[in-house]
Amino acid sequence: MTSPRQKNWTATRGAPLRGEVAIPGDKSVSHRAVMLAALADGTSRIDGFLEGADTRATAAIFAQLGVRIEAPSPSTRVVHGVGVDGLRAPAGVLDCGNAGTGMRLLAGLLAAQPFDSVLAGDNSLSRRPMGRVTEPLARMGARIEAQDGGLPPLHIRGGHGLHGIDFASPVASAQVKSAVLLAGLQAEGDTVVREPHPTRDYTERMLSAFGVDIDFSPGFACLRGGQRLRATDIAVPADFSSAAFFIVAATLVPGSELRLRAVGLNPRRTGLLAALREMGADIIEDRHASHGGEPVADLVVRHAPLRGIQVPVEWVPDMIDEFPVLAVAAACAEGATTIRGAAELRVKESDRIAAMAAGLRSLGVEVEERPDGAVITGGVVRGGAAIDSLGDHRIAMAFAVAGQLADGEVAIADVANVATSFPDFDQLARQAGFGLRAR
Ligand code: S3P
Repeated sequence: MTSPRQKNWTATRGAPLRGEVAIPGDKSVSHRAVMLAALADGTSRIDGFLEGADTRATAAIFAQLGVRIEAPSPSTRVVHGVGVDGLRAPAGVLDCGNAGTGMRLLAGLLAAQPFDSVLAGDNSLSRRPMGRVTEPLARMGARIEAQDGGLPPLHIRGGHGLHGIDFASPVASAQVKSAVLLAGLQAEGDTVVREPHPTRDYTERMLSAFGVDIDFSPGFACLRGGQRLRATDIAVPADFSSAAFFIVAATLVPGSELRLRAVGLNPRRTGLLAALREMGADIIEDRHASHGGEPVADLVVRHAPLRGIQVPVEWVPDMIDEFPVLAVAAACAEGATTIRGAAELRVKESDRIAAMAAGLRSLGVEVEERPDGAVITGGVVRGGAAIDSLGDHRIAMAFAVAGQLADGEVAIADVANVATSFPDFDQLARQAGFGLRAR
């Protein structure tokens, strides 16, 4: 595990990436599995649970809300559900850590409860916009007070009965959709969410697995309030977003051939595969299977030279978490890669457009930053630079990949938050061939 005291890495060229990697469980699915299992009647077992700081924070919050959760072995949780009406008022503040998913989904889930609660987070989460969930929830009758600018902490006043709404979300966000659906589950009447572009549908799929009658299709979801959840077992697939760092590294490092086992391939997550294939990547899907209702396959990635592309705007939601590592691929491709329609990247764990532009420029890469994206021109990646990850896990891991191509050392500062989504990243990366050490 990445120790919490380990704050910095040095990345250098390593060996060609070879062998097999078992990527840990999906963060989005792990959060939702704990939440829905807690609200269900009966006991649910979760296998493949991500042992990350974000998902552990969510589990700890449900313990504060009176839900008994056992961890019989690593990556397994047994959740003794209390039913939609069985949560207990928490004694203290609920700490979501770094997790936007945790805070936004919990805002919807807790808005309908009979008790007050307070959701807080770390410095990064405290700067992230919550108006996108508090506004639709207020339209449903919720009472939530945020700080100036709609920022956390969120003070949720319980005991206000909610009513369903027909909500056309202005932003393509699975977190917003899920917050409204989780409130809608406990509201009177029907709740409908319409999205400007389809986003990941894990909440809808999982509600259905827990026996909830929900109608959904890409960009649309509708459920009736007042339904109960039936406990069920959940098998969490390997996280595509964590696999992405290995996919790009194996593509870029000459001589690589890497197998990533049973990676989740939900079509709302795999935009990076489409983009890399368009750039010339050699990625084969092998051993297709279904893992807890989610498509999975082994990915076999071989080194291939890349060329720049214009990333189609409609692919953006399907690869929203992959832009930091796509930017590294673009920096090593021949020609320019244009990213647009991705202004959401500015309100992630960091401003990811600014963070990648600054980091890549210090590695000698030409980047034109735009309000909603960037134009990155591939070329030589120079080492000898220091990068600030801004405490953002995906920025840190993306520059660890960049270090495999640089002609000198890349020092990456402030990497402790890698533990939020991928605690064993550095160890697995070294095993695969990365040059990466703690400083
Ligand atoms: C997530 C949705 C996405 C994604 C995040 C996880 C989820 O956020 O970036 O990492 O689990 O629903 P947005 O809903 O803000 O796009």
